[in-house]
Amino acid sequence: MGRPVQTKPPRTGANRREFFKRSGATTVALAASTQLLPLGAQAAAAVAVFQHGVASGDPLSDRVILWTRVTPASAKPSIVVNYVIATDPGLSQVVRRGSGKTNPGRDYTVKIDVTGLQPGTSYYYQFSAEGSSSPVGRTRTLPAGPTNRLRMAVVSCSNHAYGYFNAYARIAARADLDLVMHLGDYIYEYGAGQYGTARTPEPATEMVSLSDYRLRHAQYKRDADSQAMHRQHPLVAIWDDHEITNDAYKTGAQNHQPGSEGDWTTRVSVAMQAYYEWMPVRAPDTSDLRRNWRNFAYGDLAEMIMLEERVSARSQQLPAGSGYTQTGAFTDATRTLLGPEQEAWLAERLRTTPARWKMLGQGVMFAQLKQVAAANAAGGGVFLNSDQWDGYQPARNRIYEVLKGNAEHAAVNDVIVLTGDIHSSWAADLTQDPNNPDVNSGGYDRTTGAGSRAVEFVGTSVTSPGVDTDTSGATANFLRSVNPHFKYINLHRRGYMLLDVTRERAVCEWWYVDTVASPSNNETFAVAFEVQQGSKHLTPSAQTTPRVNPPLLAP
Ligand SMILES: [Fe+2]
Repeated sequence: MGRPVQTKPPRTGANRREFFKRSGATTVALAASTQLLPLGAQAAAAVAVFQHGVASGDPLSDRVILWTRVTPASAKPSIVVNYVIATDPGLSQVVRRGSGKTNPGRDYTVKIDVTGLQPGTSYYYQFSAEGSSSPVGRTRTLPAGPTNRLRMAVVSCSNHAYGYFNAYARIAARADLDLVMHLGDYIYEYGAGQYGTARTPEPATEMVSLSDYRLRHAQYKRDADSQAMHRQHPLVAIWDDHEITNDAYKTGAQNHQPGSEGDWTTRVSVAMQAYYEWMPVRAPDTSDLRRNWRNFAYGDLAEMIMLEERVSARSQQLPAGSGYTQTGAFTDATRTLLGPEQEAWLAERLRTTPARWKMLGQGVMFAQLKQVAAANAAGGGVFLNSDQWDGYQPARNRIYEVLKGNAEHAAVNDVIVLTGDIHSSWAADLTQDPNNPDVNSGGYDRTTGAGSRAVEFVGTSVTSPGVDTDTSGATANFLRSVNPHFKYINLHRRGYMLLDVTRERAVCEWWYVDTVASPSNNETFAVAFEVQQGSKHLTPSAQTTPRVNPPLLAP
């Protein structure tokens, strides 16, 4: 059979692209500048100067990045931007004031790393510049020390051209979240009509130059739902490929043609520059922006280990054809997703973190995805997608060795892998030999979960299309029959994951919006799975209870 899970834009031609268009999507010529208001009144002026909203991100227990962008009436060499941060939405209990400067060299973006904050505390902030004040944003530092609960939303694949960020709006309305984790494809590179027709991208061509990347980021930041989410919650983000271009790897990408689009290193460099200008992200290494792996301690409850899987080390994808086996170049142990340095760092974090839960925030599915089942001893079967960890199995096995432990290192328990990328929803037990039912020989018991080393929650997209024709679930059911380690698969719904973590268990809920073809406030709870502390496998769960008396939303 063919490849049942098409997760990326087709490589050539328009015909297959047509297949992935939303069947009900119409070309809505909605101006991307719906938030732009005429100048005149003070309120309107405020919208114009701060038309890209405010955002915060990369919270630690004592600091957080505050972000905005100033739009001056005319070009200026330098602009002073003031900020205030307080503990109340009315900004009367001020804990810090300060100022910074921005200029055209950073596209008038502003990023302040505010330090000296208290752990586990909600703050409210506002910028002022050019005689105007920004909307008030809300953020929250991470807790320190003994910590009992983490509650966050997990999103990925927010393609402006494919529709409306209704999932972002639903997340914005949840006052009790600690943060939002974005697992990549925050923006997409395509030109008008190339991948989604609900909204027209700016610029209308594929983004290649620094100016292109900046314009695209700016368009996404003008979206009202994006602004609402950023205004209420701090973001912890990693990029996947589309922040640069499709199926990126260290030295190139499927959607990069050096002959017409220039030098790859230059393209990555300008994409990184625009990303760090426009995202509320703290660069871990300013001497090499590709190295953005970093970790966040959520008290003693969880460590969020955020991985870089695209441009710091990834080996080029091997051709997947209509399915591939674990032979030939696929067995080359030198092929890598993370690179030796990041792999060593990951192993060190997993082995030494004092946190109960180890959460990997990363881009591509870790679990095996096969179209033909076979135990490893019988060849392992036929795999579908060579862009995900299946295409880098020796590298994945090295991580399994860390989880299993050895004479020198204890096994690593309570690991949760969080994933985006494939525009569909999956819950998986992570086991090295899922089609071998003999646990004693390294296999996996689908009934008891024995043989599982960790679990994976894969969130669907905010807007990008999955297999939207699979409304009956037939394809999902087929995949579950081949892949017994998946406890849940949904290929056609859009939305987000809600992760609720206590010391005893981690519950993942899948929430779906009713449409992305038009703005809508409707969302539905679909299903929940949980992992009990120490169990390392999934069981069905129930919807969790929101926190009582959450911090007030920003006004
Ligand atoms: Fe995507």
